Order: sequence, then C-alpha cells, then structure tokens
Amino acid sequence: MIIGSVIRHYEKVSSTNDLASVMLRSDKPAEGTVITAAFQEGGRGQKGNSWESEPGKNLLMSVILYPLMIMPEEQFVISQMVSLAVCDLIRTETPHVRIKWPNDIYVRDDKIAGILIEHSIMGNAISSTVAGIGLNVNQTEFGSTLPNPVSLALVTGRKHDLSAVTGELIRLLDMRYAMVISGRTDELAEAYHKSLYRCGEWHRYSDRNGEFRGMIEGTGPGGLLMVRREKGTVTGYAFREIDYIP
Ligand code: BTN
Repeated sequence: MIIGSVIRHYEKVSSTNDLASVMLRSDKPAEGTVITAAFQEGGRGQKGNSWESEPGKNLLMSVILYPLMIMPEEQFVISQMVSLAVCDLIRTETPHVRIKWPNDIYVRDDKIAGILIEHSIMGNAISSTVAGIGLNVNQTEFGSTLPNPVSLALVTGRKHDLSAVTGELIRLLDMRYAMVISGRTDELAEAYHKSLYRCGEWHRYSDRNGEFRGMIEGTGPGGLLMVRREKGTVTGYAFREIDYIP
C-alpha cells in the first residue's frame, strides 16, 4: 500500500492542498501521505474558484505523490487515475456516475466531486504531485452560487459514514495508482473513456468562436478533449477552451 501509508487528519486547515505543499517544502513526506480535514477556511477549486464545504459533512482530502515514472507531458494519467478512483467509489452507490472532462465527477448532470491536481515539475520530471479531492458526502443544502451541486446523501437518500467513505476512497486510489506504477496506462485510458460524461452524444458547447453542436469523441494527446462538429471536423480542446452548455 502506498496511498494511505501515512494519514493525517485536521479539524480545520486553510486548504489541504496548501498544507500538503507546505509539508513538501519543509521535509519529504512519505509517498502516499493523505491529509484530510473536517473544514477548510480557504478551500480552493479549479480556475481560481473557492471550494465551499460545511464543517464535518464532506470529504476533503489531499494526497502527496512522487510519480517519477510519468513524464510531464503524460501528466493527464494522474488526472485519469484520481478521477477513476472517485468514480469507482460512487459507482458502488449509483451507476449514473461519469467523469466530466478533465476531472469533475458527475452524477447524471450534477457535480458530486471536484479534483484539483497540482504538479511540481523539475527539469523533465514531475518531482511531486498534490491531488486534492472534494467529495460531497452528507451536505444536503448548497450555496446558490454553485450551479449544480449534489452529494452522496442526496443521491442515495441516506447519511453516510464519512470515515468509512474516506477509508474506501484511499483503498481505491491505491488500486488505481498501482496501475500507473505498473504501466497499465492503456487500461486506465480505456476505463476513463468508458466513464466520460457526454461521450458519443450530441450536445451544445461554446468556444471562443461561439456556440455549436458537438459530440465528444474522447481524449487525445496530452488529455485534449476531442470534439466532433456536425460538419465532420474534430477539434482538440485544452482545459478552459470549451464550455459545456447544459
Ligand atoms: C474543483 O473546482 O472542482 C476542484 C475542487 C477541489 C477541492 C478539494 S477539497 C480538498 C483539496 N483542498 C483544496 O483546497 N481543494 C481540494
């Protein structure tokens, strides 16, 4: 077991990702060190957003990794393995779980978990990675600024044991990371493709040129999102270059 070899729990932190970065600067924490918190005063999301979570209700976790076997240009595999582990966990409760590219976790059309992966690159290697996961577990009311949040409790209609959910996620993360270590990245890519939200369906999107109808075909080199237009052309999008229209 690598992920979960060390587990540190805190009642209150600014952000588990920030705490992991501080630990990485001050000493070399064991690979797989897991930091969890009951509450974050400054939880961070993607695109500079904040991540709000009621105290003690949800899973707030960061994992420290040293994925030396992955080249910086292959870093999307870390996104795939973390997304898949969260998806594996939620699939035990509902079959309607999908990964919204690159790494939001959705149940039907609502977001149940967000992932914030921060790599440190040195030369031609990833020297360390902090994988932050926020999974809504027992929160049932959310601020009006969030477009479409949902939680495990709302999906299943019952309260969940947060420490059991945390333990299970650590186990699943460790299983998926073992696939990265042993080079089973094709299997990870295939599993990610099968779980990809809106894959193979026609929906509306927008990019810098405006709105269009498109079909996600999968991911391409470097994790680009490949989207086919009705006239047949396929475009590869990087993160933030495309918006999904509900
Ligand atoms: C997103 O915007 O979807 C990503 C959200 C990531 C939130 C998690 S909660 C634990 C970890 N610590 C943080 O400050 N952020 C991540």
